[in-house]
Amino acid sequence: MQNENRSENFSRRHLITFDDWTLEEIESVLELAGELKRIRYAGELVETLKQKTLFMIFFEQSTRTRNSMEAAMTQLGGHAHDLTADKMQISHGESPMDTAKVLSRMGEGIAIRNCFYDIGNKYLNEIAKFSDIPVISMQDDIYHPLQAIADLMTIREKFGRNLDGLKVVISWAYATTHAKPLSVPQSQILLFPRYGMDVVVAHPEEFPLQQNIIEKARSNASKHGGKISFVNSMEDALEDADVIIPKNWGGFAYFDEFDDSREMHEQMKANLEMHRDWILDAKKFSLAKRDCRIMHALPADRNHEITDALLDSENSIIYDEAENRLHTAKSILSLLMK
Ligand code: CP
Repeated sequence: MQNENRSENFSRRHLITFDDWTLEEIESVLELAGELKRIRYAGELVETLKQKTLFMIFFEQSTRTRNSMEAAMTQLGGHAHDLTADKMQISHGESPMDTAKVLSRMGEGIAIRNCFYDIGNKYLNEIAKFSDIPVISMQDDIYHPLQAIADLMTIREKFGRNLDGLKVVISWAYATTHAKPLSVPQSQILLFPRYGMDVVVAHPEEFPLQQNIIEKARSNASKHGGKISFVNSMEDALEDADVIIPKNWGGFAYFDEFDDSREMHEQMKANLEMHRDWILDAKKFSLAKRDCRIMHALPADRNHEITDALLDSENSIIYDEAENRLHTAKSILSLLMK
């Protein structure tokens, strides 16, 4: 496996968002992920991170991110500490600087999930500022780079490398489980137009994405030949779609000036209940292309965001997408921590 030269470019690099990574760097991630996937299927061993340690700090729950990252470290010959903020001195107020400097003396990488609105991304950047080892976002309130790169890998596997004009609909959908961060759709709208895709975002007025991210996504689209547009109806977005991603997100960006988070969540819940009809079902799906692929970062709120029948249909590629979290995680960890 020839990743010696690739890794040189990544020394002392953090991954908080792919928006500050070049297309060349992202290509290295995708190429190595493909190679590592083939190697795993062939049953061969790659121990590029032997004796290396990754500290994973979770402020929230996770199934895919936690397990793809820990399995990645094990399969690469290293070890991941599965930490939660409440088990660390973070819970007693230890500063990001002290946390970053201490962990930098003991291992080779720090990965963090902190999705608290208006807190998570700032916390990750504080850690990155003081860390001597790579800091990797496992999702914050603004970005989820590990999800977006796995999604891009999956789309390329299904549609090939030339994605010019591929119509990808990212649609808000009703859910009852919890107020999900904006980070998955925001990372997707930043990344996909850089690959020439025609991205249509559908959402009720009360559930916009952050304005600065929308502006950056528009700029990425015009620079790289992709397209991005926004509509307030799922049906209007779906005509001739090649890919549909039905996904709930909270109305945080609508309340940027809100002081009281309890009031914000109550208002968000009231807004949510007005849009119970935002479910991807057979009638709406019939507007898309016949072989349209359904993606979802998971966990899905089944029969609220999307019907079981569609999520379990032949059009659905959700488990390929989830599996690619492992291969892309291995690639990123190999490049950054080697
Ligand atoms: N898609 C995703 O990040 O899943 P988890 O929340 O289970 O990690």
